[in-house]
Amino acid sequence: MTTDQTAAIDWQHWLQRWDAQQTRYLPEREERFAVMLDALAALLPADFVALDLACGPGAISQRLLARFPEARTIALDYNPVLLHLGQQALGTMSGRISWISQSLTEPGWVEPVHAALEHLGRPQFDAVLSTTALHWLPIEHLTRVYNQLGELVRPGGLLLNGDHMAYLATLPAFRNLADWEHERIRQAAFSEQGGEDYRQWWQAIEQSWLAADSAFQSLFDAYHANEQLRRREFSEPIALVHVAALAAAGFDQVDTIWQRYDNRVLMAIRGEPTAPIQN
Ligand SMILES: C[S@@+](CC[C@H](N)C(=O)[O-])C[C@H]1O[C@@H](n2cnc3c(N)ncnc32)[C@H](O)[C@@H]1O
Repeated sequence: MTTDQTAAIDWQHWLQRWDAQQTRYLPEREERFAVMLDALAALLPADFVALDLACGPGAISQRLLARFPEARTIALDYNPVLLHLGQQALGTMSGRISWISQSLTEPGWVEPVHAALEHLGRPQFDAVLSTTALHWLPIEHLTRVYNQLGELVRPGGLLLNGDHMAYLATLPAFRNLADWEHERIRQAAFSEQGGEDYRQWWQAIEQSWLAADSAFQSLFDAYHANEQLRRREFSEPIALVHVAALAAAGFDQVDTIWQRYDNRVLMAIRGEPTAPIQN
């Protein structure tokens, strides 16, 4: 990609369009981010280092670094297009984001993360955050990733996962209510307002970037290859599986801190938090 050609792309526009598209599926997306950041404010010292896991274009890092001026993040994802968008739109936010391209389905994803931590002079993370992402992992990968996070998070550190995590199958009325809510949101976002959905966003970005520079083809080819690997031939782990897997991974306190039907923020803490709750 040459500088002249990619200068034609308005990165901020595509980042904002990503947020708009994601918010159509999750009207409380900003509230959910805010709750997660509030937990960091209450439980961590100001100069914390966090992992933005399955970061997409860096939605968590962008908000976190704007709110906490002394914090730093390592942002990891396997989608080359979203990573490129994040890197172009946000840059490193004055050297405070380190971007890593890795798939969580590869057990070795932790190696470049350890190297990036070492570069920041830290043996472990103070916090790990993830949103709308870990439901993509089949249960065997999810439990392995949680185990690996149990070793990557320092004692007193925490994990926050904001995602849909289903009710037990023995609670059909709760499941039906959650499905009703998803359908209500979908109808409101796409039928009445006619807003751009996930698929349309991907079509639009591919068309626009390739028109600006055909060298982007390799990024989209890699994205499409990943999509083919990412077949949903498994059922998403229910919330209790997340709780049990995090407890087994060495997190002592695990529970939901925010919820709207099955959309939740799960918080998991290793040992005792080292910073007092601040007012
Ligand atoms: C809906 S997006 C959410 C991105 C961002 N956290 C946000 O809230 O805007 C889901 C993200 O999970 C990432 N993802 C899915 N499977 C992954 C894997 N195996 N390894 C790394 N990232 C993955 C996708 O590439 C995508 O960026």
